[in-house]
Amino acid sequence: MPWYSEEQIEEVRSESDIVSVIGKYVRLKRTGSGYTGLCPFHNEKTPSFHVNPARQMYKCFGCGVGGNVLTFVMEYENLTFPEAMEMLAEEAGIDLPRQEMTAQQKQQESIRQTLLEINKKAARYYFALLKSPRGKPGYDYLKKRELTDETILHFGLGYAGQGGGELYQYMKKEGYSDSLLKETGLFKMDERGAYDKFWNRVMFPIMDANNRVIGFGGRVMGDAKPKYLNSPETKIFDKSRNLFGLNYAKRGKRNNMILCEGYMDVIALHQAGFTNAVASLGTAFTEQQANLIRRYTDEVLLTYDSDGAGVKAAMRAIPMLRRAGITAKVIHMEPYKDPDEFIKNMGPEEFEKRIEEAQNSFFFEIEVVKRSYSMSDPEQKTKFIHEIARKLLVFEDKIQRDNYLESVAAMYNIRTEDLRQLVIRYGNQMPTGYREVMEERQQERIRKGKKKETREGINYSYRLLLSWLIEEPSVFSQIKEWILPADFEDGIYRRAAEELYEQLEKGEVEPARIIGHFQEIEEQNKVAAMFQTSFGHELQRDEKQKAITDLVIKIKEYSIEKQAGEITDLNELQKLVRQKKLLQSAVKLHIS
Ligand code: CTP
Ligand code: MN
Repeated sequence: MPWYSEEQIEEVRSESDIVSVIGKYVRLKRTGSGYTGLCPFHNEKTPSFHVNPARQMYKCFGCGVGGNVLTFVMEYENLTFPEAMEMLAEEAGIDLPRQEMTAQQKQQESIRQTLLEINKKAARYYFALLKSPRGKPGYDYLKKRELTDETILHFGLGYAGQGGGELYQYMKKEGYSDSLLKETGLFKMDERGAYDKFWNRVMFPIMDANNRVIGFGGRVMGDAKPKYLNSPETKIFDKSRNLFGLNYAKRGKRNNMILCEGYMDVIALHQAGFTNAVASLGTAFTEQQANLIRRYTDEVLLTYDSDGAGVKAAMRAIPMLRRAGITAKVIHMEPYKDPDEFIKNMGPEEFEKRIEEAQNSFFFEIEVVKRSYSMSDPEQKTKFIHEIARKLLVFEDKIQRDNYLESVAAMYNIRTEDLRQLVIRYGNQMPTGYREVMEERQQERIRKGKKKETREGINYSYRLLLSWLIEEPSVFSQIKEWILPADFEDGIYRRAAEELYEQLEKGEVEPARIIGHFQEIEEQNKVAAMFQTSFGHELQRDEKQKAITDLVIKIKEYSIEKQAGEITDLNELQKLVRQKKLLQSAVKLHIS
């Protein structure tokens, strides 16, 4: 695991002149104290991409991306942070010896390695069992699902025996300690002994992008519940940052990926030649997964089940994909419920046709929204049109937005000019980026039927606040009266906030240094993304003020709610509730 010291990061950053690095990708023109060009991260005809040589930062006033030389190559070349380090170091002729890991890091790394080893052995064990006489129930089941021997081998499918303790016995013979075995999540251990978590199930090994087995899904062979059991999250298994099938899909020749709901869908698709299929891991699709996909492609075809839950899942995934810079399309599988069934009944050629007919995700969203309005009622139709107008604002590129506007107006018999006026009106009300999040949040609330902040939303708010502070350190003194690092939820955001606050106190804001303090590549990427979140630009001062005030209230409210959840003392609780009520009127920020 590459791991660079602060000094190394600083050396690479300062030795790589941002103007010459970006100049290799973007035609830059000198203007006043800086350079401008056409933004490489979104489509535009007039240059709104600025490079500031004094601060060694870039910023696009069109789409809002910004950062330093490291984040630029990460973004442009789709590199991880260490990869970006290596690339720039090489160009600058800097020798980059990797930092020695500390004893504690070494120990953690060795545990991870052993967990990977155990998972690999478990996968081999399950596979061998499937192919043995005792594995017949599992093998017959997979055959009944029309999987070939080749597919079974390709995905390393297996069978967990009926005894309930065989894998444990095997691993003990291999010499692993109970405490390590416990960490794999493959065993249940209590006073009475140790048992296999999976028994009498067909097993789906889950591999990371580098073909390493990091966990398992196990399916019952009949109708018993639960249908699937999955490994719990472990030191090596993070469900929100991996995708089933990605190890194969990333090598696929097609220039997009098919995102489905189930393991069986992925397997059936790969068997039918669609080797670009992936699925999330028994949990809802996440923003991190969207970013993971973005490393390989910028188009995703969604094949969520055509039932209500599937539509909901698609409605959640589309904005996340959009935020990651991915265009989504929706494959319709009617009358079948998922790709596995579709392929079985209609064959690959028909599926290929459905891919060609895949629906633009924006039109899909509008169609779904329409279902909750009755078009024969003028009041409801009005509301629907207003909702379309607000939704159109997700397109920050004016030409793109106009194109969508015209199509949607034609589709739903709305006068184009009326819709345009509405869009302009809503557009003036709220800043970009921020607006999109608010809208999603509101939808999320409606879906969940409760007025609670979602984790997705709050993380986005954290990112916005941190990005804002980097861009405009002058607001820091006001912000810190309300929000301290402790108000961020424990974890990566709080750590980043702690470091940024420290820098702000000293008056030396250097995001790249903060990135370097995180050890895992995934963490570094996440922190880098954190500092590039756009708050929307060219805002009027009062708009800015309102947006940031709302943001501060949002984060503070969430923090209070969290505290309240942990408090048992009634007086304390009442104090918090009062505090929260006062926020709306108390928070007053002045942005110059
Ligand atoms: N899932 C889960 N736990 C369950 C049910 C589902 O983790 N009890 C996850 C699994 O990752 C599964 C996915 O949700 O692959 C989709 O569920 P579903 O559509 O019910 O399963 P399929 O993959 O279609 O499986 P099958 O075709 O075997 O029914
Ligand atoms: Mn299925």
